[in-house]
Amino acid sequence: MYFSWARLLPVLGTLLHAVQADNPIIQSIYTADPAPIVVGDKVYLLADHDENGSTNYNMKDWRLFSTADMANWQDHGVIASIATTFPWADINAWAGQIIARNNKFYMYLPMRRRGGNMAIGVAVANSITGPWKDAIGKPLLENARIDPTVWIDDNGQAYLYFANPGLFYVKLNADMVSYSGGIVQVPTSVSSFGSGREPDGTTFAEGPWIYKRNNLYYNVYAAQCCSEDLRYSTGPSITGPWTYRGVVMASAGKSFTNHPAVIDFKGKSYLFYHNGALPGGSGYTRSIAVEPFTYNSDGTIPLLTMTNAGAPQVGTLNPYTRNEAETMAFSSGVQTEAMTEGGISLINIENGDYVKVAGAAFGNGAKSFSARVASATSGGKIELRLGSLTGTLAGTCTIPGTNGWQTWKMVTCTVDGASGTKDLYLRFVGGSGYLFNVDYWQFA
Ligand SMILES: *[C@@H]1O[C@H](CO)[C@@H](O)[C@H](O)[C@H]1NC(C)=O
Repeated sequence: MYFSWARLLPVLGTLLHAVQADNPIIQSIYTADPAPIVVGDKVYLLADHDENGSTNYNMKDWRLFSTADMANWQDHGVIASIATTFPWADINAWAGQIIARNNKFYMYLPMRRRGGNMAIGVAVANSITGPWKDAIGKPLLENARIDPTVWIDDNGQAYLYFANPGLFYVKLNADMVSYSGGIVQVPTSVSSFGSGREPDGTTFAEGPWIYKRNNLYYNVYAAQCCSEDLRYSTGPSITGPWTYRGVVMASAGKSFTNHPAVIDFKGKSYLFYHNGALPGGSGYTRSIAVEPFTYNSDGTIPLLTMTNAGAPQVGTLNPYTRNEAETMAFSSGVQTEAMTEGGISLINIENGDYVKVAGAAFGNGAKSFSARVASATSGGKIELRLGSLTGTLAGTCTIPGTNGWQTWKMVTCTVDGASGTKDLYLRFVGGSGYLFNVDYWQFA
């Protein structure tokens, strides 16, 4: 048979592109314990944050990301930290959740009270991106438990569940920052959580994610430490009684913990979880990933598998509007940082690093590309590649030195051949060391 590399290479290129991993969804830092919330036409994702190289859970801050299309995620940076938001705590910035009420946002977060136990604090903000402040200046409750999950029932009564060991809830008052009636412990039984190897003989371990959908209440949780898998129970009310329904996702993927979150967004359902899929990933350097799924007609959740594909993009990205450079479907080598003037920028850009932006709708064609950049060195170049990292070169922007990493300047370059809807790759090239920072970009 006649064999031609020249004919095979484009085919291989297409295959490689088809399996391009978009999970885990954040590549610039390690993230864990997903807590997504739909606000308007976006999903906001609260995450906690494993330090690079970590071998423990001495975690310090909480991060926020958002997406309008499930593929391109914008980094909103640190929205709360133990050091700056909760002076009464000292360590263990772990899994939390945000909920909207009273035209405000409330965020429930576990952390260790200075000289005390694990406690749950509550922060409040007028905008989900902040500024967030400690709502009451002390723990909302302290009973050596973690993993708060919050739901407002149809009658307006809000419930804050938490766990590990055991499962508990309080009824939050309408102000969302206090509760009435004391802490209720939910009995765990085999009928509620299945027969398993946890000390109570069930599979329930931690990380409950409680919500209602089509008249059925769901409690999706991390089961059977360790390695944990994800299981769920359902019930006729927010307080149960819970009936065990089985496994949602088997344990896999280099992290011995997991933590589920489930949302519906633009007519589709998604399971968020974490594993150790990034380079350097482990049980202490975790990454959040997402799988789309369809409920069975009886409301049960199908068995899902961890993939590196991620969720299909819903819609497209408009390249003719200001796009924050920290909006990424995938990236390699780059990091993000709060800018001195406010906002977030892309930093630590080195030769060969890149950012993938999924599904940019160029329409009839772009003529130019502009970016706001800063560089304390001599800069470098941004190659605008279409379809893949080695795809069509639609333009090359030379980025000059600006005499400072926070000294921002607009640069513009011509673009040719960018039309239709394509994945856009910003490929960074230059000498050694950090080349430049990018604040935002826009085609015209
Ligand atoms: C972790 O640090 C290494 C070494 O500096 C770096 O190459 C890598 O990109 C970092 N990863 C994350 C997720 O921060």
